[in-house]
Amino acid sequence: MNQTTKKPEIFLVTSNLHKYDEIYSIFKQYTSIQLRLLQANLVEIQSSDLEEIAIFSLKKCAKKLKEKLIFVEDSGLFIKQLNGFPGPYSAYIFRTLGLKGILTLMKMFKKREAYFQSSIAVKNENEIKVFTERVQGQISLEISDLGWGYDPIFIPDCDGTLTYGELGLKKNALSHRFLATQKLIKYLNKCILVD
Ligand code: IMP
Repeated sequence: MNQTTKKPEIFLVTSNLHKYDEIYSIFKQYTSIQLRLLQANLVEIQSSDLEEIAIFSLKKCAKKLKEKLIFVEDSGLFIKQLNGFPGPYSAYIFRTLGLKGILTLMKMFKKREAYFQSSIAVKNENEIKVFTERVQGQISLEISDLGWGYDPIFIPDCDGTLTYGELGLKKNALSHRFLATQKLIKYLNKCILVD
């Protein structure tokens, strides 16, 4: 008799494999729920609120993937001296101004305070939940060689000297994404594993 019980699984919908890798390694450490990748470009609305963007993208995906337990993650870098810019436009600004452009903008400021936000929206049957976390930090004076996206210019306050990129794998134990994923896992462990 075949009594193999399939582990519960959840699908992350994203086109960003860096995100998937980071979230995958957090899942591996903290839950027996299997993380699967659904590679797709998300439909995003224009909004200043990452939670709203994540919920909208999730609902769009859910229309096509009715049977699946799915989630999306939206993140952004908010620079205080630039009134929260690039924030929800982080992906577009990364592609256009780039890291050099951000550092040029920052030249006129003494302070360089910023936070990274991660908002995760998950759909479990008919329930939608959102989990948000932020990590405060500083914009570096120079671009460090390591990391992806804004990793080379974001120094989290909890370390204070190294950029996310320079932190390497340590990033994944303190980042905005780590903290939001922890909240997601706590929720999933309660409602998926207990049933
Ligand atoms: P989105 O969540 O895919 O829309 O990402 C917004 C922008 O922020 C993209 O340009 C990403 O490359 C960048 N980004 C998101 N999360 C991180 C991170 O953990 N490190 C560095 N850049 C990030």
